[in-house]
Amino acid sequence: MKTYNIGILGFGTVGSGVFDIFSKNADIIKEKNCLAVNVKRILDLRKFPGSPAENLITTNFDDIVSDNEISLVVEVLGGEQPAFDFCKQALAAKKSVVTSNKELVEKHGAELMKIAFENGVHFLFEASVAGGIPVIRCLNESFNSDSVIEISGILNGTTNYILTKMTKDGQSFEDALADAQSLGYAEQNPSADIEGTDACRKLAILLSIATGKDVDCRDINTKGIDAVTTSQIAKANEKDGVIKLVAKAKIEKDNVFAQVAPMFIGKESSLFKVDGALNAVSIRGSATGEITLIGMGAGKLPTASAIASDIIAALTRRPSAPFWCEQRQSVASFPAQYAERFSI
Ligand code: HSE
Repeated sequence: MKTYNIGILGFGTVGSGVFDIFSKNADIIKEKNCLAVNVKRILDLRKFPGSPAENLITTNFDDIVSDNEISLVVEVLGGEQPAFDFCKQALAAKKSVVTSNKELVEKHGAELMKIAFENGVHFLFEASVAGGIPVIRCLNESFNSDSVIEISGILNGTTNYILTKMTKDGQSFEDALADAQSLGYAEQNPSADIEGTDACRKLAILLSIATGKDVDCRDINTKGIDAVTTSQIAKANEKDGVIKLVAKAKIEKDNVFAQVAPMFIGKESSLFKVDGALNAVSIRGSATGEITLIGMGAGKLPTASAIASDIIAALTRRPSAPFWCEQRQSVASFPAQYAERFSI
């Protein structure tokens, strides 16, 4: 049985989750895949005294990128830089890269997939959208003979957790955010969650896969939950509904309409009971009809398990062509009649 060595960039919530999965699930991984994965090095500026990973920590990226025994690099640093430079260097050194970094994938995904393909390795990012929900695999594999005409859902765990706690437990926004941070759901700078940027980046990634062209999240009309008031939540409750941050897109031939905004969700909606850090993604294909996937959208182990499944895919499958090209896909706001229906 072959053992593959990997390096991890970042030993925060998600990085330590990946380490835990490969330590604790080693037997399951061997049984199911006939291979073993050894975490050989971890890049982090901090020290972790007493951790089982303590002796693997390095502050020097070169210890990973120049190590010929390491065939794959996991990037979980978050943010654009130095993640972008590190990924390019790893791919150029013919190491596959697996990441959960939404910002990196949304901004540079097309270029990184192209570099990966040219070097005969993988650039995979299942964990960048909706945590443990295998939505990227679903779009790429289950919809490979169908045209996607709608994508919608809840794509941010932190804001869904905050709105749920405010609605169900009467918690304040500040307390709910503090809990979401301590549970490892929120971004380092939670304004990306609160202002809708994180959900918008994820929608842009899904739309890029669905259209085969590069969707820029700056083209998507985005409102966060910062302006949602307790009186709006109470009014929604009086009407037997809740408020949720919803990402929505329609694809009509070459036209793409998209938005991220807080919306009134009635009892009849499949999103009504999607609470806490759960995410939901509905995809409508012209032949398939609509499917909805629900699962944990944030958190250490759901995100780490999506990364682990990408790692095993990268170690066992042939690299695929880029999921989308660098050509820009234009995106418009929904026409007024839709927008009105969506707003709270
Ligand atoms: N901050 C993100 C969220 C993490 O709350 O959904 C998962 O991408």
